[in-house]
Amino acid sequence: MPSSPRPPLRCPLCGAALKPLGGAADAARLALVCGSGHSFDAAKQGYYNLLVGKGTVFESDTAEMVAARYAFLDGGHYRPLADALAAAVVSGVTPGEAFTVLDSGTGTGHYLRVVLDALQRTTNSCTAVALDISKFALRRAARLNPEAISLACDVWQPLPVADAAIDAITVIFAPRNAAEFARVLRPGGRLVVVTPRAGHLAAIAVQAGMLSIEDDKDTRLAESLSPHFVAEYTRDLDIQMMLTPSELADLAFMGPAGHHLDRLTIAAKIGSGDVSPQVEARFRLTVFGLAPSTQ
Ligand SMILES: C[S@@+](CC[C@H](N)C(=O)[O-])C[C@H]1O[C@@H](n2cnc3c(N)ncnc32)[C@H](O)[C@@H]1O
Ligand SMILES: [Zn+2]
Repeated sequence: MPSSPRPPLRCPLCGAALKPLGGAADAARLALVCGSGHSFDAAKQGYYNLLVGKGTVFESDTAEMVAARYAFLDGGHYRPLADALAAAVVSGVTPGEAFTVLDSGTGTGHYLRVVLDALQRTTNSCTAVALDISKFALRRAARLNPEAISLACDVWQPLPVADAAIDAITVIFAPRNAAEFARVLRPGGRLVVVTPRAGHLAAIAVQAGMLSIEDDKDTRLAESLSPHFVAEYTRDLDIQMMLTPSELADLAFMGPAGHHLDRLTIAAKIGSGDVSPQVEARFRLTVFGLAPSTQ
């Protein structure tokens, strides 16, 4: 699937259109440049660093946490979620029309890969933009999704994306900048958000040092996106998993617990025998449209 030769990007320094150097699309990813001469080189793994200024104080996932996320997701346990997400995106495609998807907080790019594969079966004109603040994550994401434009940026800053340029935004367990999402989404476009529900991974949460999920997260999700977005529909997905000790350790380590416990400590807690191999993931997928007042 070819990327668009004109990705809908804008320069984080001056706001002018940002294009691949020399107009190249896939063949020669060297740098993104704007008409004012600002230039952002591609890292050798293929993502561009658009981080400018001070940005949000942020504890980035470590390379080890990202490796654990990659390994766990690659095991396919969350495939039903990825398929539901892809279906929610693909249902917004109008046959014969180009489609642009933005994955915000893309992590290792796992879900975007499934979305892109589904889009590829539906349309031959598709552009994907992947954003994350973690270079460790983007190294994986850029390799997994070479046809996407992977950008290091802080989603709490103005996004390096043109106004009304995006048909669908996906956000899976990642921060949501409602005002900026509303600016870049085209009228009629959709924002697909995946969040955990109460009881998500409860069987291992306490033992493995993970955060538990509060009951009112859903209300807070809608509030955090208001007044820019309104929920159109919600789908709950429960996935029962029987995991090996190594998968349990990856699952715990890839989340917030990885910031304060090392993998060996987590593996030791799991190895002590108190942790059940039977774990339930509880997700909520919510599709939002732009609120009428913002269109
Ligand atoms: C829990 S991970 C989810 C990753 C991916 N969506 C997935 O489900 O596999 C959250 C991601 O959001 C990214 N992130 C957190 N804060 C961010 C920010 N301010 N700007 C951009 N990305 C951010 C993290 O680096 C991380 O990759
Ligand atoms: Zn510029």
